[in-house]
Amino acid sequence: MKGNKHPSNDETINPSGNASIYDIIDGVDSSRRTFIKGSVGTTALAAAGGLTLSGLVGTVQAGPVPASLGFPGIGFESVPASVSITSAPAAAAVADKITVPAGYKAELFVAWGDPIMPGGVPFASDASNTAAEQEKQFGTHNDGMAFFPFTGVDGKPTSDRGILAINNEYTPEEILTPAGIPGASIAAVRKSQAAHGVSILEARRRNGKWAVVKNSPYGRRLTSNTKTRVSGPAAGHALMKVNEYLINENGSFPTGKQTDGFTAYGTINNCANGVTPWGTYLTCEENFNGNFGANAPLPSAAASELGKLYNRYGVVAAGFGYDWHKQDARFDLAVNPNEANLFGWVVEVDPYDPKSVPVKRTALGRFKHESAQYVVDAQGHLAMYMGDDERNEYIYKFVSTGKYNPANRAANRDLLDSGVLYVAKFASNMTGQWIALLPGTIGVDGVALRNNPNFVGADDAEVLAKILIKTRMAADAVGATMMDRPEWTGARPRIGGFNKIEVYCTLTNNNRRGTNTASSNRADGFTTAGSARPPVDAANPREDNIYGHIIRWQEDGDTVKATSFSWNLFAQAGDTKTTRAPKPTNNYKGNIVADPFGSADYGAPDGLWFDHFGRLWVQTDQVGDASGVWNNIGANTMVCADPNTGITRRFLTSPNGCEVTGIAMSPDGKTMWVGVQHPGEDATAANPEKTSRWPANQWGVESDGVTSLPFGRPRSSVVVITKDDGGIIGS
Ligand code: FEO
Ligand code: CA
Ligand code: CA
Repeated sequence: MKGNKHPSNDETINPSGNASIYDIIDGVDSSRRTFIKGSVGTTALAAAGGLTLSGLVGTVQAGPVPASLGFPGIGFESVPASVSITSAPAAAAVADKITVPAGYKAELFVAWGDPIMPGGVPFASDASNTAAEQEKQFGTHNDGMAFFPFTGVDGKPTSDRGILAINNEYTPEEILTPAGIPGASIAAVRKSQAAHGVSILEARRRNGKWAVVKNSPYGRRLTSNTKTRVSGPAAGHALMKVNEYLINENGSFPTGKQTDGFTAYGTINNCANGVTPWGTYLTCEENFNGNFGANAPLPSAAASELGKLYNRYGVVAAGFGYDWHKQDARFDLAVNPNEANLFGWVVEVDPYDPKSVPVKRTALGRFKHESAQYVVDAQGHLAMYMGDDERNEYIYKFVSTGKYNPANRAANRDLLDSGVLYVAKFASNMTGQWIALLPGTIGVDGVALRNNPNFVGADDAEVLAKILIKTRMAADAVGATMMDRPEWTGARPRIGGFNKIEVYCTLTNNNRRGTNTASSNRADGFTTAGSARPPVDAANPREDNIYGHIIRWQEDGDTVKATSFSWNLFAQAGDTKTTRAPKPTNNYKGNIVADPFGSADYGAPDGLWFDHFGRLWVQTDQVGDASGVWNNIGANTMVCADPNTGITRRFLTSPNGCEVTGIAMSPDGKTMWVGVQHPGEDATAANPEKTSRWPANQWGVESDGVTSLPFGRPRSSVVVITKDDGGIIGS
């Protein structure tokens, strides 16, 4: 999270002049007040009122967390927080390893640079693998993932063999090549591009050992240069047409033609993910802006339509330091200005068909996509719930026009091309509205979007294309609720008597919430990305929200087509041992329910996923080295929670300086894969192992029992977790 490639918060924190938690609650409808005091403001009220939180939650009993409505229980005890140790290689570092509860085993399944397809060569620990070699190896900085089983001879999904699709979000240029100099050569840039994207691999368990099938025909890499198709309402629009290039190892050479707006090369900054019920993978493009740069000044927001678009999405000439634009003309916006518009989409790929062309689904909107969670309601309508991860951005849902057809996979092929994109507005009375982003929607200025200068077009088809390319501006225009960095969305399974459409979203942090001087995203779309400083509100109630929270909502009428919902806060994360001076609406301790009290503290929730048994898993992304305000919480973690009671247990702690992100499970629930991204994040070219030697320091070989794990540099990896008794993970 600290890395310049995956920006988090600036550290500017000003004293608050905003409303207290009492002012917020006093603004809430009285019939709802009991609820908000019970679930939203408990911690702040307890602190301010002289109560102790342990007194409020002390009724929770120790031992296994029992099963309850739609929830199968938790059978393990929390692992301790992994806090600062003195023997580590950095001053304020944590144990450089994965820990899991007693009775569980974690092994290294696949690491950056492992070959995953025919022709792949082993990882070179001096980072000397070429771009061409990297194109057949597991990418780096893995994030969201999903397991796609095969069908067994009994007609059921297999749990010992299947395909894992795994995102590779970004690259650490300092340890990606021996020289570690960003943009130093086209060879270095091509390697960086080859390490981005998606890794699709076959996973197989034989004789109890999980292994990557290295020569599998399903093995595939999507990179920053893979040809994709653009579909949906924005496809073919003038803003989607770019210079055509001949792309090879020597550079990108203009052909002199323009593309037709239906083709794009590459997928980048693939953060979290989704799946569809018809068995395809969704990879979500997040901080795409940072991969672009310009070798000449870019237009200002006031100067042109494109300048305004760059400003709203954080596209700047310097980029985030990849410096691809210094070697690759395609990423130089001074000569190829529309290329950035081809990114920031949800991309669908069929993992079962290695020849399939990935499709950018523009109907789902363009923003810094974190993840996409589907729900199919009883009527067969399909929604995708999605967050835009930047401070003070929004939560969206897409509802398809057509219905999901479970009997005919091919019939769902273009379901994500036609539908309505909505943005969420959370009211202080614990209800909310989904506002359709359509040409006829009236904005807060009283003007229909079709007449808003940002979206005017020849007809409503063009207006819709512009709404989708400039999704953030459309949400600004209708007054959506600015959130504390929406990360993953997850839908609670409707099983075991639980039958509501209930969706959760992690709001990882926001150090601009409630800080002076208050400002909001402008309705006219002129806001610079991430620059607002909104006051606290009921859905984002903590000023200086460094530890984050989890919000959830239920659709009215149990249909995904609902335009209204009710919501509450599932948990406010925090450090129960903090001595940090409280703020009026933030005591920093949070209200995580755990027994013993404080035994499952976590902060900066990011990954969020319900397994198919109903357990809620939450993964965190903070600095991960126990520095600063993370001294008590320590390393990043993954916790398991009961959605009914909020009771939480800590399942895993992680190596130094990494984040825990990405989770998948076999259909039988007996194998879980968990991602570890950027261990030893502060590595330098001169000292790649400066802050972490993981995973080589924890295991000599991978889970296959034969692939060695050399020292040389830390490697983003996926671990595979099993239970010693062969049971379901979490049971
Ligand atoms: Fe790549 Fe918002 O996490
Ligand atoms: Ca994330
Ligand atoms: Ca994050």
